Amino acid sequence: MDKPLVAILMGSANDWEIMQHAARSLQDFGISYDARVISAHRSPDLLVNYVREMCEQGVRCFIAGAGGAAHLAGVIASQTTLPVLGIPIPSKYLKGIDSLLSIVQMPKGIPVATFAIGEAGAANAGLFAVSMLAMNDVQLADRLDEFRKQQAEAIAAAKLPSLKSE
Ligand code: RP5
Repeated sequence: MDKPLVAILMGSANDWEIMQHAARSLQDFGISYDARVISAHRSPDLLVNYVREMCEQGVRCFIAGAGGAAHLAGVIASQTTLPVLGIPIPSKYLKGIDSLLSIVQMPKGIPVATFAIGEAGAANAGLFAVSMLAMNDVQLADRLDEFRKQQAEAIAAAKLPSLKSE
């Protein structure tokens, strides 16, 4: 197995339903990743050690998903200057608005790039990681261009159903 270029973390195994979309984006572009459940508040020592280990192994960025008072991405960012991409996980009562505000409102000095709540945010974080890696990889940049072209073609070919009779 190749050394991971991206580390994907989530605060609970329950977050995988959303976070698998980040993994899928990376896999679609052949990017190696390591995915783990590590909680900023339930296993803080493990988190600090893991971030250090991943940095030593040469990952280029972290993708972190958490729900509720979601501090996972911020704590990762406190431990590394590598880019940290945060995914707000939909929560039971506030539907992820709590997660979004927790992640996006990082105080000045320790940035976290925040994505949309849920699947789209996770998928886009994966694509964003691909974009960053493509800055130093011409073949990857070409594949990303091709992916965009395919999306444009799908929109151009979209057909609407005819009106149903009343
Ligand atoms: C956060 O608390 C996790 O990221 C998860 O989204 C949320 C709830 O955790 P579980 O009760 O599902 O384990 O730490």
